[in-house]
Amino acid sequence: MIKMSKTDANTGASLMHEEKKEVASPWPGPKGMIPVTSGQADDANLHNRAYLDSILVEMRIIDAIKPNLTTEIFGRKYSSPLTLAALSHLNKVLPDKSRKPMQEKVAVAKKMNVLNWIGMESDEDYMEMEKDAGDMIRIVKPFADHERIIKELQLAEKLGAVAVGMDIDHVPGENGDYDVVDGIPLGPLTFADLRRYVKATKLPFVAKGVLSVRDATKARDAGASAIVVSHHHGRIPFGVPPLKILPEIKKALKGSKMTIFVDGSLMSGYDAYKALALGADAVLIGRGILPELLKDGQAGTEAKIKKLNEELSQMMLYTGIPDTKSFDRSILHFE
Ligand SMILES: Cc1cc2nc3c(=O)[nH]c(=O)nc-3n(C[C@H](O)[C@H](O)[C@H](O)COP(=O)(O)O)c2cc1C
Repeated sequence: MIKMSKTDANTGASLMHEEKKEVASPWPGPKGMIPVTSGQADDANLHNRAYLDSILVEMRIIDAIKPNLTTEIFGRKYSSPLTLAALSHLNKVLPDKSRKPMQEKVAVAKKMNVLNWIGMESDEDYMEMEKDAGDMIRIVKPFADHERIIKELQLAEKLGAVAVGMDIDHVPGENGDYDVVDGIPLGPLTFADLRRYVKATKLPFVAKGVLSVRDATKARDAGASAIVVSHHHGRIPFGVPPLKILPEIKKALKGSKMTIFVDGSLMSGYDAYKALALGADAVLIGRGILPELLKDGQAGTEAKIKKLNEELSQMMLYTGIPDTKSFDRSILHFE
């Protein structure tokens, strides 16, 4: 899909690695705290974008009505199928230390009645956010220390999370070993471990970072109630676009009643529409709200979500989709 422009004349090998340059970060805060898209062929975000943009929609306007975006997730009603992805560490990135983007995001979700995801935060920071929050899903890292995982899952249950889960795609680091985040070792993660975490809580359990039918069916067999089809903003080089693999995963999970979320470079309501038409029950928006959240806080983020919802509604109206239970893959055309 992405055309490599340069190859070695003798071997035909890609010159990508020779040409790879460090990309200046557009984000505030310490280096590496907010991921940077390299724009090189191994960057899975690039493939997300190309795949999303290759999907076209037909129009079904006769009898179409203004759509209702209300969406039920884990038996609870939200104003939209757009949910706010886990974006950790943001309270550490702004020069203005009186600003707290994590709390601002929590406030946006509560006010707009959308589901909010919380990722790697200390228990103290999480408790602080939870005090004044609406519905949240707490995602725990695949720590090497299993007892730490159980403790964090159970704290979330006690604090009233609507679901808990794990970003299972954060086991490998960039050096081919298990990753270490903030000095805390991660992974590995076995099927038996996953089953143990699912059983450690009464809440629905979400396996976040599923990018194969194999992991999806393993998550189902381990007892997970939901998956996020995702590669976590391109953790795996050359990762298949989540939207591309979503239909196969959906088919494999048919009859399981599992909730299927998807994320990955969904920057507009039109992108979200394509994800929903391909079979997602709801979508996560991460970097699509990040600039507004960091720059203009709660007001800017609310305005962005309103715009995304308007784009989604517009596309639903153009294509005759009256509500979020009625998406239809046959509207999409693939180049
Ligand atoms: C700054 C930042 C921090 C993140 N922290 C977490 C985290 O702690 N846990 C997690 O599961 N995902 C985390 N993610 C991944 C997002 O939740 C999401 O899966 C990913 O960014 C893909 O969505 P997007 O393309 O809409 O950004 C983080 C993403 C960003 C940009």
